[in-house]
Amino acid sequence: MTLKTYEQYREIFKFIEKPFAFVDLDYFDANVQSIKNRAGSKKIRIATKSLRCTHLLQRILNQDAQYQGLMTYCAPETVYLSRWGFDNLLLGYPVYDPSQIEDLVKEIQKGKKITLMVDSEAHIRQIASIAEAYQVVVSVCLDVDMSSDFWGGIHFGVYRSSVKTPEQALKVWEIIKQQPSIRLSGIMGYEAQIAGLGAKKPTLMNQLIRFLKKRSIQELAKRRAAVVAAITSQNPDLEFVNGGGTGSLESTILEKVVSEVTVGSGFYSSGLFDNYLEFKHLPAVAYAIEIVRQPQTNIYTCAGGGYVASGAVGKEKLPSPYLPWGCALIANEGVGEVQTPIVYQGSSELQLGDPIFLRHAKAGEIGERFTHFYTVEGERITGKIPTYRGEGQCFI
Ligand SMILES: Cc1ncc(COP(=O)(O)O)c(C=O)c1O
Repeated sequence: MTLKTYEQYREIFKFIEKPFAFVDLDYFDANVQSIKNRAGSKKIRIATKSLRCTHLLQRILNQDAQYQGLMTYCAPETVYLSRWGFDNLLLGYPVYDPSQIEDLVKEIQKGKKITLMVDSEAHIRQIASIAEAYQVVVSVCLDVDMSSDFWGGIHFGVYRSSVKTPEQALKVWEIIKQQPSIRLSGIMGYEAQIAGLGAKKPTLMNQLIRFLKKRSIQELAKRRAAVVAAITSQNPDLEFVNGGGTGSLESTILEKVVSEVTVGSGFYSSGLFDNYLEFKHLPAVAYAIEIVRQPQTNIYTCAGGGYVASGAVGKEKLPSPYLPWGCALIANEGVGEVQTPIVYQGSSELQLGDPIFLRHAKAGEIGERFTHFYTVEGERITGKIPTYRGEGQCFI
């Protein structure tokens, strides 16, 4: 697919007030297809945090039956999506607040398939006490730590679950087994250091990261298989084993025990996802800011623009200038609270009032900054769809 040019997008949006965000549905649909291809025969669960837009979640589910269910990120969001009409919701992170668990249990009582995440006795007891009061059996998923510890004290991965070994998993299983109101239906292991860490550029640091990734993939495939074997020997009713993310599909699908993969960021293909050797998706979501002054010949200052991604502070968390080609941020200013200067060394004629298009580093977070996405198909705007914010929702 040939990518649209700056001039094409500028023409498409010439009557739209800036700033605005948009989703190019031609690219989005192509990404849905290529992610399906990358996932092989595994089912795909959609990570809602990386989209934050009900219309686009629904669009993916409608496109192909290999997409089954959502991985949600907090209890109020899960309840919201359940009431919106979505089903098969795996809450990817633990909930502890009793009133939030109660709201989830009430949805389950209505017949919705919602699975809660646990990795400790405290999680299980908290859910069990509420499930019992409502006389509901709640499905839970055991989150298994997928980080690797290497020589020299390198912790390669993230700090999430307290369960790392088959023995630790079995201890949690023993507690679940004693709770008639809890059913263990899944195991999840998210290999963040593979899925969320690209290493495309041939730098020394990336060579080291690639080496560590290789080692870590081998180790965690064995760990996941061992945990799944231990649990299934005691609990043959396990329904699913979830793994991966956009950046790890190639390795996660090689694991036989994995029944489904989770994908989110690849649909928008935000800035950080340009940095992978293994795949390339199309830049489906971007936002536009308006040039409002020109302090020097090649510097265009725009209104707004300061949407920095979460996580450890670093310049990779800044948005990337997208179109026109030849734009760059200024190191001393980055993207500003209300103004963003752009250095431009390209060949398009730019004037006050013109847009500069940027892409957020992470995928779903842009939905917290805009109430709507304009949808583009071919060379025209075909609609305007709300983000969570546009539906009046602000979760976490
Ligand atoms: C538990 C879990 N699974 C999967 C993912 C993958 O999401 P994405 O495809 O957006 O990188 C994430 C992202 O952080 C996650 O936390």
